[in-house]
Amino acid sequence: MKATEITNGIYRLGINLDNDTLFEGMWPMPHGISINSYVVRGEKTALIDLVEDVGEKPVEFEQELHSIPLQIEDIDYLIINHMEPDHTSWLPKFYKRNPNLQFYITEKGAAVLKAFCGIETNVHIIKTGDTLDLGGGKALTFYEAPNLHWPETMLTFEQSSGILFTCDAFGSYGAITDVIFDDQLSSEQHDFFMREALRYYANIIGGFSMFVKKAIDRLDGLDIKMIAPSHGIVWRENPREIIDAYLRFARYMNGPAEPEVTVIWSSMYGNTERLVNVMVQGVRSEGVPVHVHRVPDDHVGFILASAWKSSGLIVGMPTYEYRMFPPMAWVLDMFGRKKVCGKKVLRFGSFGWSGGAQRELQILTEKLKWDFLDPVEWQGAPSEDVLNLAAKSSRKLARQIKAAG
Ligand code: FEO
Repeated sequence: MKATEITNGIYRLGINLDNDTLFEGMWPMPHGISINSYVVRGEKTALIDLVEDVGEKPVEFEQELHSIPLQIEDIDYLIINHMEPDHTSWLPKFYKRNPNLQFYITEKGAAVLKAFCGIETNVHIIKTGDTLDLGGGKALTFYEAPNLHWPETMLTFEQSSGILFTCDAFGSYGAITDVIFDDQLSSEQHDFFMREALRYYANIIGGFSMFVKKAIDRLDGLDIKMIAPSHGIVWRENPREIIDAYLRFARYMNGPAEPEVTVIWSSMYGNTERLVNVMVQGVRSEGVPVHVHRVPDDHVGFILASAWKSSGLIVGMPTYEYRMFPPMAWVLDMFGRKKVCGKKVLRFGSFGWSGGAQRELQILTEKLKWDFLDPVEWQGAPSEDVLNLAAKSSRKLARQIKAAG
């Protein structure tokens, strides 16, 4: 690919990580992910965020630089909005090629730069409001934006163009090929990137939602004409759309989220499974949309996205050795780590000789402030009474979700 000039003197470059790898070593990316980088050329040249050192990707990236045309040695400044290695693992080699490179980074970022890359020279610590004048009418102003999603993160605003470079924030999964702007997307592509933005948010940013609003508030008064993240598309036509989406995703953390229900279920021998359709139909009969995931078949990365967006959860799992069914315990533990808070929850499941799953579930999720309906539990195979109770309870949950808005 060639670099794309997104406005006069500012270029977008990038690589795509392949869809057979896991992001952060754990999140599936069936459609890959882009790692974007940006060149801002004034009298001096700045590169904003770098790419991962994986396979031949740095070679591809260097070819994109050449298409501008630029050589690695021509770059004066590297702006490091975020130190996670998907943006920096190539940095030690890159610096060897250009030892005059000057780094602009937050104080916490500088410590991580030393720890990950062994770099302590040419480092300039920025504070919110500091500006780096590139000459030629281009100037970069920095904004500390901690915990999006590491403690050292910052945002960079180019004054003449109104472009905000945000690294992970406002990013999404999904490889980028020939289309890089929101206004070039078909409605299907647009829906895809919004879905993948939500999944990326739930996987990567969600646990830090309290910092998202703070960061956006800090930008109040800036005339933002484009949002240029380091994953996903550039929001040129309507940058407010992705800002508002992030504010909405952040609000979901404490609920209520959308008036939808996510059903997450697991079953050992089919007894718990027999209630799944009853529950789904019960919720649908109240006109509430339902997302259904089976555990362990569906990866928690996808389940998180559905659960994050839904005000209601239905958790189907049997008791296993007096406790929660282990594959579901892993999913629920992840919900705790990612702070899936404020849900209305109905659990159902069978047990062989005693219960225990419900008790452990309530203890595990205590800090998440979930509002539990009475569980539907039974010994062995479900009776007609149990099936009727399941229908009634799922309708009750759906009505509560609708009432909460
Ligand atoms: Fe794209 Fe947090 O790294």
